[in-house]
Amino acid sequence: MTPVSAGVGFPERPLPEPDIARADGWVARAMGEGLLDPGVAQRVRIVTRLSRRQTVSGQALARDLGISRAAIHKHVDLLRASGVGIASSTGSGYVLEPPCDQLLPETVLALLLGWAPPPASTSTLIGLPYLYEARTPSTNLVLKARASDLPGGAVAVTDFQEAGRGRLGRTWVCEPGKDLTFSVLLRPGIASAEAPRLVLAASVAVAEALAEIGGLEGRVGIKWPNDVQIDGRKVCGILSEASMDMDALHWVVIGVGVNVNGSPVRAAATSAAMTGDIGRATSLAESLGGPVPRGFLLIRLLGELGKRWSAVEQGRWSDVRMAYGRLDSLAGSSVVVRSGLERDVVVAEGTAEGLGPDGELRVRSSDGALRLVTAGEVTLGGI
Ligand code: BTN
Repeated sequence: MTPVSAGVGFPERPLPEPDIARADGWVARAMGEGLLDPGVAQRVRIVTRLSRRQTVSGQALARDLGISRAAIHKHVDLLRASGVGIASSTGSGYVLEPPCDQLLPETVLALLLGWAPPPASTSTLIGLPYLYEARTPSTNLVLKARASDLPGGAVAVTDFQEAGRGRLGRTWVCEPGKDLTFSVLLRPGIASAEAPRLVLAASVAVAEALAEIGGLEGRVGIKWPNDVQIDGRKVCGILSEASMDMDALHWVVIGVGVNVNGSPVRAAATSAAMTGDIGRATSLAESLGGPVPRGFLLIRLLGELGKRWSAVEQGRWSDVRMAYGRLDSLAGSSVVVRSGLERDVVVAEGTAEGLGPDGELRVRSSDGALRLVTAGEVTLGGI
């Protein structure tokens, strides 16, 4: 039996089993730092063990975790009541049922912590603390409201974002229980002027994570600054909000919205609401021909985001820029950049030539002049 099977979009790469010792190490550290509720921690330990490729008896679980069988039973009941599929067979025990579509801390953290590098006292994991709410107005707002007391790496996730915010004051619409909307709080040790690098690094991380999904290789691109596209249609938007002054970048909240299993019609409406560009949106399910397990996707995204953000923090921005170049869907195209707030104001017009030193869009006009654009809305070919 293979409890953690891949699911649509993850078929070619069987997922590794979580490393229980690693997950336990992270859980212990998170508990020590007050980042994980004890009940959730216990259920994370249980789900990690049920994610292996064999059934586990209640007795073995109880012995392993040093709690009673009745307590195990109670935790399993709680997980089932929240929608986690746990099968049981008399005599052999429990096993987690695929696919992992849930976004609950128990299921996401069990795999995230079991696949993350071993905890070192200095490392920050993107995903701890993990603030999940079944519905919330906006995950960016959740983190902004608590930015003064949460550590960097904190993540807010919801199954239904009721008043999602997009770039340039627009809205972001998602379908309850179908899409992925989450935000991450960062406290990076970089200069304020370098903050845009984190947002571009996020686009690269999301695009790379999506391009890894079976069936999407070669179809994923980035439209500057941070629309991730499949076959030229928007599948993900990213919104960053920061607190900074001339001297320091205090915190950055980066919010990611992915159209996962929602209807393409709805996704198109979302895109239209955001850009006036009808029919230019898609969802992963539409692009792949079947639903994608959101829990797995989130884990992949958090892992890639963590890697690319640490590259920026550790001075490896040139790696991110190079990766962006491989995914740049505008390079060589003729573009018009309009002011985001006043659409009839043209900021630049010409051929897109990739990224400037700090993530600006390089636009070469017909007279040969080069402009470095820091903000705006891009349309292709003067459309
Ligand atoms: C855009 O393309 O305009 C950016 C959309 C960003 C949407 C995400 S969903 C999670 C986070 N919370 C929000 O309210 N917005 C971002």
